[in-house]
Amino acid sequence: MATFVPATERRVQSPHLPFGDRRDAPFYQMDILSVSQFSREDLEYIFGVAKEMRSIVERVGTFDLLKGKILANLFYEPSTRTSSSFLSAMERLGGSVIPINEVHYSSVAKGESLPDTIRTLQSYADVIVLRHPEVGSAALAARYASKPIINAGDGVGEHPTQALLDLFTILAELGEVDGQTVTLLGDLKYGRTVHSLARLLSLYDVELHYVSPSILRMPTEVIDEVAAKGIRQSEHDSLDAVIGQSDVLYVTRVQQERFEREADYESVAGAYIIDATTMEKAKERMIVMHPLPRVGEIADEVDDDPRAAYFRQMEYGLYVRMALLALVLGKA
Ligand code: NCD
Repeated sequence: MATFVPATERRVQSPHLPFGDRRDAPFYQMDILSVSQFSREDLEYIFGVAKEMRSIVERVGTFDLLKGKILANLFYEPSTRTSSSFLSAMERLGGSVIPINEVHYSSVAKGESLPDTIRTLQSYADVIVLRHPEVGSAALAARYASKPIINAGDGVGEHPTQALLDLFTILAELGEVDGQTVTLLGDLKYGRTVHSLARLLSLYDVELHYVSPSILRMPTEVIDEVAAKGIRQSEHDSLDAVIGQSDVLYVTRVQQERFEREADYESVAGAYIIDATTMEKAKERMIVMHPLPRVGEIADEVDDDPRAAYFRQMEYGLYVRMALLALVLGKA
């Protein structure tokens, strides 16, 4: 785990650590770049903290754990949930936020490089959340930052905090992850959430089904990594073959912005639509998840089905992100 964190050593040895931080706390000053940095024990620890965050929010709403700490929320790509849940998480913990959601109005528009923007923001903030269109951008930022970088999506690469909240959702809704059959459906090629989620699930005893059009299959590197952990995986064109066995149906949007040719997007847009008829074929206790936004792949009529977990999933994201901020800032 520690090997993945470029600047941790330097930070932990620094004599300039802010007063009151718990240097011995797990994850203190750690970058969160990829799910591959986590072990099962790490996840249990993070989810334990997230559960505490949930009960505190339910009881008192906000509290001052991160008072005086500042988060820079740097988004080079559109976001509603990820950016506002990090903002809400920081403010519920008593901290404050520098929101840069529209980089076109920042010095990025003047041609500033990512390393220079990161150098700038780390002078003002204690932690930086970064969403960027290029794979590896969060790792690049971490090389230039002495403050923790949290990857909020690096192009078609990874979205580790989403996968953490997805796993937390499965735990909260189904009680355990071991033994579950999880079906990932939609754009498995460009969807970064499913790349992170499949990797994270491979730490558990699960069976994975991938349902997608042939041009949007799960990348071989992800399949190989998951296979190396001994996880059973299978690929399908149609959901019918696996819907009846699934405990979790994880639906994704076809990522229009990643396609080089509009005609390719048109050929797969609307390939799958989850509706009441689909739900009739599903287990009584299956949950439907989606990182959102949805653009037609889950019909509105499914929203009232108790198995529709995608709106609850957003709320679980708040607790997980509160836990992550508190942990990397040494306060949990
Ligand atoms: C996802 C993303 O940005 O990768 N959204 C999110 O963070 N909840 C999924 C998507 O955009 O389709």
